[in-house]
Amino acid sequence: MSINQKLTEYNRLIEDRINLLYPSEKLAYSKVLDAARYSLLNGGKRIRPAIVLEFCKLCGGKEEDALDFAVALEMIHTYSLIHDDLPCMDNDDLRRGKPSCHKAFGEDIALLAGDTLLTEAFFVVANSAVSNDKALKAVSFLASNAGLHGMIGGQVLDLVFEDMSPDAAQLQDMYMRKTGALLIAAASIGCIAAGKDDDNTLKSAAKYGYNLGLAFQIIDDILDVTSDEKTLGKPIGSDGRNGKTTFVTIYGLDRAFAIAAQLTNYALDALDEFDGDTSSLYELTDYLLDRNK
Ligand code: IPE
Ligand code: IPE
Ligand code: MG
Ligand code: MG
Ligand code: MG
Repeated sequence: MSINQKLTEYNRLIEDRINLLYPSEKLAYSKVLDAARYSLLNGGKRIRPAIVLEFCKLCGGKEEDALDFAVALEMIHTYSLIHDDLPCMDNDDLRRGKPSCHKAFGEDIALLAGDTLLTEAFFVVANSAVSNDKALKAVSFLASNAGLHGMIGGQVLDLVFEDMSPDAAQLQDMYMRKTGALLIAAASIGCIAAGKDDDNTLKSAAKYGYNLGLAFQIIDDILDVTSDEKTLGKPIGSDGRNGKTTFVTIYGLDRAFAIAAQLTNYALDALDEFDGDTSSLYELTDYLLDRNK
Protein backbone atom coordinates (compact mmCIF):
# COMPACT_ATOMS: atom_id res chain seq x y z
CA MET A 1 0.00 0.00 0.00
CA SER A 2 1.35 3.48 -0.85
CA ILE A 3 1.70 6.06 1.89
CA ASN A 4 -1.21 8.02 0.42
CA GLN A 5 -3.44 4.94 0.46
CA LYS A 6 -2.41 4.25 4.04
CA LEU A 7 -3.23 7.80 5.14
CA THR A 8 -6.60 7.54 3.38
CA GLU A 9 -7.27 4.28 5.20
CA TYR A 10 -6.27 5.80 8.57
CA ASN A 11 -8.47 8.81 7.83
CA ARG A 12 -11.42 6.47 7.26
CA LEU A 13 -10.76 4.61 10.52
CA ILE A 14 -10.51 7.86 12.49
CA GLU A 15 -13.61 9.42 10.92
CA ASP A 16 -15.69 6.27 11.43
CA ARG A 17 -14.72 6.20 15.10
CA ILE A 18 -15.47 9.91 15.54
CA ASN A 19 -18.88 9.46 13.90
CA LEU A 20 -19.62 6.61 16.29
CA LEU A 21 -18.46 8.47 19.39
CA TYR A 22 -19.87 11.87 18.39
CA PRO A 23 -22.71 11.46 15.88
CA SER A 24 -24.54 14.52 14.71
CA GLU A 25 -27.51 14.95 17.05
CA LYS A 26 -30.28 17.44 17.75
CA LEU A 27 -29.53 19.03 21.11
CA ALA A 28 -30.30 22.42 22.60
CA TYR A 29 -26.52 22.96 22.44
CA SER A 30 -25.97 21.32 19.02
CA LYS A 31 -24.13 24.39 17.75
CA VAL A 32 -20.96 23.41 19.56
CA LEU A 33 -21.16 19.79 18.45
CA ASP A 34 -21.70 20.92 14.85
CA ALA A 35 -18.67 23.22 15.11
CA ALA A 36 -16.45 20.50 16.61
CA ARG A 37 -17.52 18.02 13.91
CA TYR A 38 -17.07 20.65 11.19
CA SER A 39 -13.43 21.17 12.18
CA LEU A 40 -12.68 17.54 12.94
CA LEU A 41 -14.18 15.83 9.89
CA ASN A 42 -13.44 16.09 6.15
CA GLY A 43 -9.96 17.49 6.31
CA GLY A 44 -6.54 17.19 7.81
CA LYS A 45 -3.68 14.89 6.93
CA ARG A 46 -4.21 12.75 10.07
CA ILE A 47 -0.46 12.54 10.61
CA ARG A 48 -0.70 12.26 14.38
CA PRO A 49 -3.21 9.38 14.39
CA ALA A 50 -1.11 7.64 11.72
CA ILE A 51 1.94 7.89 13.98
CA VAL A 52 0.02 6.58 17.00
CA LEU A 53 -1.24 3.56 15.02
CA GLU A 54 2.11 2.87 13.36
CA PHE A 55 4.06 2.97 16.65
CA CYS A 56 1.52 0.65 18.22
CA LYS A 57 2.03 -1.83 15.37
CA LEU A 58 5.81 -1.38 15.49
CA CYS A 59 5.70 -2.36 19.17
CA GLY A 60 3.66 -5.47 18.44
CA GLY A 61 0.22 -4.07 19.31
CA LYS A 62 -3.06 -4.22 17.41
CA GLU A 63 -4.57 -1.25 15.61
CA GLU A 64 -7.76 -1.39 17.69
CA ASP A 65 -5.76 -1.00 20.92
CA ALA A 66 -4.54 2.40 19.76
CA LEU A 67 -7.56 3.72 17.85
CA ASP A 68 -9.13 5.72 20.68
CA PHE A 69 -5.75 7.16 21.64
CA ALA A 70 -5.29 8.22 18.01
CA VAL A 71 -8.76 9.82 17.92
CA ALA A 72 -8.12 11.64 21.21
CA LEU A 73 -4.86 13.09 19.93
CA GLU A 74 -6.50 14.25 16.69
CA MET A 75 -9.21 15.94 18.80
CA ILE A 76 -6.54 17.77 20.83
CA HIS A 77 -4.69 18.75 17.65
CA THR A 78 -7.91 20.04 16.07
CA TYR A 79 -8.71 22.09 19.17
CA SER A 80 -5.23 23.65 18.91
CA LEU A 81 -5.91 24.61 15.29
CA ILE A 82 -9.33 26.16 16.05
CA HIS A 83 -7.81 28.34 18.77
CA ASP A 84 -4.66 29.05 16.70
CA ASP A 85 -6.84 30.58 13.95
CA LEU A 86 -8.83 32.91 16.24
CA PRO A 87 -8.48 36.67 15.65
CA CYS A 88 -6.67 37.03 18.98
CA MET A 89 -4.07 34.48 17.83
CA ASP A 90 -3.02 34.04 14.16
CA ASN A 91 -6.26 35.51 12.78
CA ASP A 92 -6.55 33.09 9.85
CA ASP A 93 -9.82 32.65 7.99
CA LEU A 94 -9.17 29.37 6.19
CA ARG A 95 -8.36 25.95 7.64
CA ARG A 96 -8.31 22.54 5.98
CA GLY A 97 -9.70 24.15 2.83
CA LYS A 98 -12.79 25.57 4.54
CA PRO A 99 -13.62 28.78 6.42
CA SER A 100 -12.00 28.56 9.86
CA CYS A 101 -14.25 27.45 12.70
CA HIS A 102 -14.78 31.02 13.97
CA LYS A 103 -15.68 32.19 10.46
CA ALA A 104 -18.31 29.47 10.12
CA PHE A 105 -19.69 29.48 13.68
CA GLY A 106 -18.56 32.72 15.33
CA GLU A 107 -15.77 33.26 17.84
CA ASP A 108 -17.80 32.29 20.86
CA ILE A 109 -18.79 28.88 19.55
CA ALA A 110 -15.31 28.28 18.06
CA LEU A 111 -13.75 28.90 21.45
CA LEU A 112 -16.16 26.46 23.05
CA ALA A 113 -15.72 23.89 20.24
CA GLY A 114 -11.99 23.92 21.03
CA ASP A 115 -12.72 23.51 24.73
CA THR A 116 -15.11 20.65 23.90
CA LEU A 117 -12.53 18.76 21.83
CA LEU A 118 -9.84 19.12 24.48
CA THR A 119 -12.12 17.96 27.28
CA GLU A 120 -13.81 15.13 25.38
CA ALA A 121 -10.41 13.80 24.24
CA PHE A 122 -9.69 12.77 27.82
CA PHE A 123 -13.16 11.20 28.09
CA VAL A 124 -12.37 9.12 25.00
CA VAL A 125 -9.10 7.86 26.48
CA ALA A 126 -10.60 7.19 29.91
CA ASN A 127 -13.40 5.13 28.34
CA SER A 128 -11.38 3.27 25.74
CA ALA A 129 -11.44 -0.51 25.98
CA VAL A 130 -7.79 -0.79 27.06
CA SER A 131 -6.47 -1.54 30.54
CA ASN A 132 -6.69 1.20 33.17
CA ASP A 133 -2.92 1.22 33.34
CA LYS A 134 -2.56 2.00 29.61
CA ALA A 135 -5.32 4.65 29.73
CA LEU A 136 -3.75 6.38 32.72
CA LYS A 137 -0.32 6.48 31.10
CA ALA A 138 -1.82 7.84 27.88
CA VAL A 139 -3.69 10.55 29.80
CA SER A 140 -0.45 11.57 31.45
CA PHE A 141 1.46 11.79 28.14
CA LEU A 142 -1.36 13.65 26.39
CA ALA A 143 -1.82 16.14 29.22
CA SER A 144 1.86 16.86 29.72
CA ASN A 145 2.57 17.31 26.01
CA ALA A 146 -0.55 19.37 25.27
CA GLY A 147 -0.28 21.43 28.44
CA LEU A 148 1.80 24.11 30.15
CA HIS A 149 5.27 22.90 29.19
CA GLY A 150 4.17 21.45 25.85
CA MET A 151 1.90 22.80 23.12
CA ILE A 152 0.38 25.59 25.23
CA GLY A 153 3.80 26.80 26.38
CA GLY A 154 4.93 26.79 22.75
CA GLN A 155 1.90 28.75 21.58
CA VAL A 156 2.57 31.34 24.29
CA LEU A 157 6.21 31.67 23.16
CA ASP A 158 4.95 32.00 19.57
CA LEU A 159 2.93 35.07 20.65
CA VAL A 160 5.68 36.50 22.87
CA PHE A 161 8.20 36.20 20.02
CA GLU A 162 6.04 38.40 17.74
CA ASP A 163 7.38 41.35 19.74
CA MET A 164 11.03 40.36 19.81
CA SER A 165 13.65 38.73 17.60
CA PRO A 166 14.20 35.24 18.98
CA ASP A 167 17.45 33.51 18.06
CA ALA A 168 17.58 30.05 16.49
CA ALA A 169 17.87 28.29 19.87
CA GLN A 170 14.82 30.09 21.23
CA LEU A 171 12.90 29.33 18.06
CA GLN A 172 13.85 25.66 18.27
CA ASP A 173 12.63 25.48 21.87
CA MET A 174 9.34 27.09 20.81
CA TYR A 175 8.89 24.61 17.90
CA MET A 176 9.69 21.68 20.15
CA ARG A 177 6.80 22.73 22.38
CA LYS A 178 4.15 24.03 19.96
CA THR A 179 4.56 21.23 17.40
CA GLY A 180 7.08 18.66 18.66
CA ALA A 181 5.21 17.94 21.88
CA LEU A 182 2.09 16.49 20.20
CA LEU A 183 4.30 14.38 17.92
CA ILE A 184 6.24 13.10 20.93
CA ALA A 185 2.86 12.26 22.47
CA ALA A 186 1.79 10.47 19.25
CA ALA A 187 4.78 8.12 19.17
CA SER A 188 4.72 7.57 22.94
CA ILE A 189 1.04 6.68 23.30
CA GLY A 190 1.36 4.32 20.33
CA CYS A 191 4.01 2.38 22.29
CA ILE A 192 1.89 2.57 25.45
CA ALA A 193 -1.15 1.17 23.59
CA ALA A 194 0.97 -1.83 22.61
CA GLY A 195 2.06 -2.31 26.23
CA LYS A 196 5.70 -1.55 25.43
CA ASP A 197 6.51 1.37 27.67
CA ASP A 198 9.96 0.70 29.11
CA ASP A 199 12.27 3.72 29.43
CA ASN A 200 14.37 2.89 26.37
CA THR A 201 11.35 2.50 24.11
CA LEU A 202 9.80 5.76 25.30
CA LYS A 203 13.13 7.55 24.92
CA SER A 204 13.41 6.43 21.30
CA ALA A 205 9.77 7.39 20.67
CA ALA A 206 10.43 10.87 22.12
CA LYS A 207 13.58 11.25 20.01
CA TYR A 208 11.53 10.43 16.92
CA GLY A 209 8.71 12.85 17.81
CA TYR A 210 11.08 15.64 18.77
CA ASN A 211 13.09 15.56 15.55
CA LEU A 212 10.09 14.99 13.33
CA GLY A 213 8.25 17.80 15.13
CA LEU A 214 11.00 20.32 14.40
CA ALA A 215 11.26 19.20 10.77
CA PHE A 216 7.48 19.29 10.42
CA GLN A 217 7.21 22.88 11.69
CA ILE A 218 10.10 24.06 9.48
CA ILE A 219 8.36 22.63 6.41
CA ASP A 220 5.12 24.29 7.59
CA ASP A 221 7.03 27.61 7.67
CA ILE A 222 8.39 26.98 4.16
CA LEU A 223 4.94 26.12 2.78
CA ASP A 224 3.53 29.31 4.32
CA VAL A 225 5.81 31.14 1.85
CA THR A 226 6.00 28.83 -1.16
CA SER A 227 2.64 27.05 -1.46
CA ASP A 228 -0.72 28.30 -2.67
CA GLU A 229 -3.93 28.60 -0.72
CA LYS A 230 -5.80 25.95 -2.68
CA THR A 231 -3.12 23.29 -2.18
CA LEU A 232 -2.38 24.17 1.45
CA GLY A 233 -6.00 24.72 2.53
CA LYS A 234 -4.90 27.66 4.70
CA PRO A 235 -3.86 31.25 3.98
CA ILE A 236 -0.41 31.89 2.52
CA GLY A 237 1.83 34.49 4.14
CA SER A 238 0.18 34.26 7.55
CA ASP A 239 3.55 34.21 9.36
CA GLY A 240 4.74 37.37 7.59
CA ARG A 241 1.49 39.21 8.33
CA ASN A 242 1.81 38.33 12.01
CA GLY A 243 5.47 39.37 12.22
CA LYS A 244 6.65 35.88 13.13
CA THR A 245 10.31 34.96 13.16
CA THR A 246 10.60 31.51 11.54
CA PHE A 247 13.36 29.23 10.31
CA VAL A 248 12.72 30.78 6.88
CA THR A 249 13.28 34.35 8.10
CA ILE A 250 16.47 33.33 9.96
CA TYR A 251 18.03 30.92 7.45
CA GLY A 252 16.27 31.46 4.12
CA LEU A 253 14.33 28.80 2.23
CA ASP A 254 17.20 26.56 1.11
CA ARG A 255 19.02 26.35 4.42
CA ALA A 256 15.75 25.91 6.30
CA PHE A 257 14.93 22.92 4.07
CA ALA A 258 18.42 21.47 4.58
CA ILE A 259 17.94 21.69 8.37
CA ALA A 260 14.54 19.97 8.07
CA ALA A 261 16.19 17.22 6.02
CA GLN A 262 18.87 16.74 8.68
CA LEU A 263 16.24 16.58 11.44
CA THR A 264 14.29 14.05 9.37
CA ASN A 265 17.42 11.88 9.30
CA TYR A 266 17.65 12.10 13.10
CA ALA A 267 14.02 10.98 13.30
CA LEU A 268 14.84 8.04 11.02
CA ASP A 269 17.83 7.19 13.27
CA ALA A 270 15.41 6.98 16.20
CA LEU A 271 13.34 4.42 14.24
CA ASP A 272 16.46 2.26 13.91
CA GLU A 273 16.41 1.87 17.68
CA PHE A 274 13.25 -0.29 17.33
CA ASP A 275 13.35 -4.02 16.55
CA GLY A 276 10.18 -4.32 14.46
CA ASP A 277 9.34 -3.42 10.86
CA THR A 278 9.86 0.33 10.49
CA SER A 279 9.28 0.53 6.73
CA SER A 280 5.89 2.28 6.96
CA LEU A 281 7.17 4.85 9.42
CA TYR A 282 10.27 5.41 7.29
CA GLU A 283 8.07 6.11 4.32
CA LEU A 284 5.74 8.39 6.29
CA THR A 285 8.66 10.36 7.75
CA ASP A 286 10.25 10.90 4.33
CA TYR A 287 6.91 11.82 2.83
CA LEU A 288 6.42 14.57 5.44
CA LEU A 289 9.69 16.23 4.42
CA ASP A 290 8.58 16.42 0.80
CA ARG A 291 4.91 17.18 1.44
CA ASN A 292 3.16 19.99 -0.41
CA LYS A 293 0.47 20.67 2.26
C1 IPE B 1 -0.77 22.17 11.37
O1 IPE B 1 -0.68 20.79 11.51
C2 IPE B 1 -0.20 22.82 12.56
C3 IPE B 1 1.23 22.58 12.76
C4 IPE B 1 1.67 22.03 13.83
C5 IPE B 1 2.18 23.01 11.76
P1 IPE B 1 -0.98 19.82 10.27
O2 IPE B 1 -0.17 20.26 9.10
O3 IPE B 1 -0.79 18.41 10.72
O4 IPE B 1 -2.51 20.13 9.99
P2 IPE B 1 -3.67 19.16 9.45
O5 IPE B 1 -4.08 18.30 10.60
O6 IPE B 1 -3.12 18.36 8.30
O7 IPE B 1 -4.77 20.09 9.05
C1 IPE C 1 1.23 25.52 14.73
O1 IPE C 1 1.84 26.65 14.20
C2 IPE C 1 0.61 25.80 15.95
C3 IPE C 1 -0.23 24.90 16.71
C4 IPE C 1 0.21 24.29 17.74
C5 IPE C 1 -1.64 24.83 16.39
P1 IPE C 1 1.18 27.51 13.03
O2 IPE C 1 0.39 28.64 13.56
O3 IPE C 1 2.27 27.80 12.06
O4 IPE C 1 0.19 26.44 12.37
P2 IPE C 1 -0.69 26.76 11.07
O5 IPE C 1 0.27 27.16 9.97
O6 IPE C 1 -1.65 27.86 11.44
O7 IPE C 1 -1.36 25.45 10.76
MG1 MG D 1 0.23 29.79 15.24
MG1 MG E 1 -1.41 29.43 12.63
MG1 MG F 1 2.17 27.69 9.98
